[in-house]
Amino acid sequence: MKVLVVGNGGREHALAWKLLQSQQIERVFCTPGNGGTATLERCENLPVAVDDFEGIAKLAQKENISLVIVGPEVPLSQGITDYLQAQGLMVFGPNKMGAQIEASKAWAKALMQEAGIPTAKAAVFTEIKAAKSYLKSQGVPIVVKADGLAAGKGVIVAQTIVEAEAALDAIFGGQFGSAGNFVVIEEFLLGQEVSVLALTDGLTIRPLLPAQDHKRIGEGDTGENTGGMGAYAPAPVATPGMMARLQTEVLEPAIAALRKKGIDYRGVLYAGLMVAPDGEFKVLEFNCRFGDPETQVILPLLDTPLEELILACVQQRLGDMPPIAWKNGASATVVAASGGYPGDYTNGKVITGLQESETADTKVFHAGTKLQGLEVVSDGGRVLNVTAIGEDFKQALDRAYAGIAKVQFEGMYYRRDIGYRVLS
Ligand SMILES: Nc1ncnc2c1ncn2[C@@H]1O[C@H](COP(=O)(O)OP(=O)(O)O)[C@@H](O)[C@H]1O
Ligand SMILES: [Mg+2]
Repeated sequence: MKVLVVGNGGREHALAWKLLQSQQIERVFCTPGNGGTATLERCENLPVAVDDFEGIAKLAQKENISLVIVGPEVPLSQGITDYLQAQGLMVFGPNKMGAQIEASKAWAKALMQEAGIPTAKAAVFTEIKAAKSYLKSQGVPIVVKADGLAAGKGVIVAQTIVEAEAALDAIFGGQFGSAGNFVVIEEFLLGQEVSVLALTDGLTIRPLLPAQDHKRIGEGDTGENTGGMGAYAPAPVATPGMMARLQTEVLEPAIAALRKKGIDYRGVLYAGLMVAPDGEFKVLEFNCRFGDPETQVILPLLDTPLEELILACVQQRLGDMPPIAWKNGASATVVAASGGYPGDYTNGKVITGLQESETADTKVFHAGTKLQGLEVVSDGGRVLNVTAIGEDFKQALDRAYAGIAKVQFEGMYYRRDIGYRVLS
């Protein structure tokens, strides 16, 4: 079987790598892919942009692709699934209606409220005056969210009213484009975040191992938000008891609520959760796709062939599948970023030590890289994810750090404290 993976991040490299471990997978194409998928055996990059639906459909037909897996949220929210399905292709990833669960925070909040899913108390505004007076009535800290996809930059956790008002001015002032038509103001929740990615065929929903990301650029979770600087799985903060409750209080009600709206959701439903010190949890957001970098730590532990699970979702027979099988132990990834990220940075830095850093247990997933002649060069803010498995967190993290120490490029930056919560 031939599979097409849409996207060019570490997530897509990990998906292609995992798929190719199965004898059932003849070939993987990536549109557009990165330096990692370019050098992966039986994998080929094709220079088609993720929003060129017609180009992707033509390519899929020409190459006899059986299954398209969509990585990023942007094409999903633009209706790539609807388009490709109309061309007769089998697609893993929700349709445009379903992708609203990520693309509109106001829509997602309403769905959670209708379904009785535990989430932060919130109000939605379309008008700045009402939003500001609500702010004052609530006090700080408070969280202000632009409505649409804002690449992780649309959420402001404000410690003062001045900061919260500035956030509203920026959002209503159009700084986030159409994401500024609505704003969600919500209660600040204290605790530890955890990501639970679940696979669904629209009827059945099954969680993958919980993972914990590290979103801030600086050690000790300080500084600006990023796309994610490292992760590990399985995150112990999501206890078995919590995972059981999550199934009946979050995942199943979410799918039922989507079905009630006539949405046939087949793909990943990713719940971003805040777990309070007392163990109570609430949903911060839903995403409509695999997480990045969570996928990079979840897939190395997956024992069930990935394509079997994905096909079961697409063909709506996930309920007939045996339980998902996992390897024992733990997995960790450390992100190497370009100097200056998440601010300005320079691409095109030659990367060395990639082969030396890999072992039987350590794998480098490329994110922002590209192949330039025979060299791999940086081509994005988050450049590489050095990922390792081990018997426990300490071994997985030690291996990931031993691997990243062998990689070099000018200006390379990485956090030295990934996994600090599970090591102490
Ligand atoms: N209600 C909240 N209380 C505390 N922190 C929050 C809250 N909502 C969001 N955050 C913080 O902001 C980050 C981004 O918010 P999120 O809703 O996940 O949006 P996005 O991922 O689209 O930027 C979260 O990972 C979390 O750290
Ligand atoms: Mg988030």
